[in-house]
Amino acid sequence: MSKQQCLLVTGGAGFIGSCFVLQSRQRGLRVINLDKLTYAGNLENLASLSSDPDHIFVQGDIGNAELIQWLLGHYEPDAVVNFAAESHVDRSILDPEAFVRTNVLGTSTLLRVVKNWWSCLDDAKRASFRFLHISTDEVFGALQPGDPAFCETTPYSPNSPYSASKAASDHLVRAFHETYGLPVLITNCSNNYGPRQFPEKLISLMILNALEGKPLPVYGTGSNIRDWLHVEDHCAAIALVLEQGRTGESYNIGGHSERTNLEVVQTLCAILQEEVPCERRYADQIRFVTDRPGHDFRYAIDCRKLEQELGWKPVHSFASGLKETVRWYLAHREWVEHVRSGAYRDWMVRNYADRV
Ligand code: NAD
Ligand code: TYD
Repeated sequence: MSKQQCLLVTGGAGFIGSCFVLQSRQRGLRVINLDKLTYAGNLENLASLSSDPDHIFVQGDIGNAELIQWLLGHYEPDAVVNFAAESHVDRSILDPEAFVRTNVLGTSTLLRVVKNWWSCLDDAKRASFRFLHISTDEVFGALQPGDPAFCETTPYSPNSPYSASKAASDHLVRAFHETYGLPVLITNCSNNYGPRQFPEKLISLMILNALEGKPLPVYGTGSNIRDWLHVEDHCAAIALVLEQGRTGESYNIGGHSERTNLEVVQTLCAILQEEVPCERRYADQIRFVTDRPGHDFRYAIDCRKLEQELGWKPVHSFASGLKETVRWYLAHREWVEHVRSGAYRDWMVRNYADRV
């Protein structure tokens, strides 16, 4: 019998990382989950694994070299999958340095320690090892209507401190392949939605605000465009890239679901009107507020490389995925209550109070 595969997953208590951990356990992989548990990390996302001996949770920072070194030596993972990051654009506008610390310096430390450990492995293990870095389409900058979608060779042109820090981390990952031969892979994905998303991002925030009769703050005119992908489809793509992707390559992942923000919010309001009928119209809660500075107008992803090379296809349509997501938030009120700590309330005041 072949040895059970083992992954070191970082940021596995966050929105996307936890989905990937749950899927990996379903596929029988052993998971060592290293997460700092920032405001966005939540062990309730992994409640179903609480007595699973093949999910080992370790609270810690990807910038802690000694800890990473110990984890690698002790568990000898077959791959490292790096989700750990500060991930919210609005927070990066108010506190860019936190993004540099984790996304740039943290990734740099993680790479260095992994490279040193990997270089001492035997030939077979060194050849089969993978370092997969999870990135975003935002590194490519902004598109105008009619521009061709981002492909893997589109030059990087990040506009926010978040996307700049992710771009820097992507460059470091690539450099470790070119310089040291570390077998890396990078994925650049569009906007995710689905269960367990921290309610600071557009879709999760709007669902909860709508239900509570609060304003639905649409930045600017709501005409900015994002491409939406269900988190489970994203994680399935990551697993495929990890198994079959060519090292040194990057793969774009997208949902073929471009929508303006206003369309997304109006669709959510229509779903809520069906799911939780009430006399008021949820759409009447929409408020156009001061725009985000440096707001990228449009993202769109060309993911033909992933589709044609690796045969990936998303299974969720945006319409059904969005309805399912609304139902998940309705069915998990306790999860919602727990993430809305005092720190969450402080953030809502900090980000929204001064928007006209
Ligand atoms: P998230 O904010 O929900 O989760 C991030 C996780 O990383 C949290 O559990 C947090 O505790 C952990 N973390 C933060 N700093 C850490 C550190 N220094 N050491 C260890 N753990 C740390 O983010 P997400 O939406 O799940 O995004 C995960 C990854 O996917 C990020 O790298 C992000 O850039 C990328 N991504 C996100 C999207 C999206 O739409 N959310 C789209 C494309 C790519
Ligand atoms: P977000 O979910 O923060 O993801 P990203 O900025 O990484 O794309 O935002 C998605 C879009 O929704 C983006 O164009 C900004 C907009 N937005 C609002 O209009 N209002 C809000 O309250 C938030 C959080 C986002």
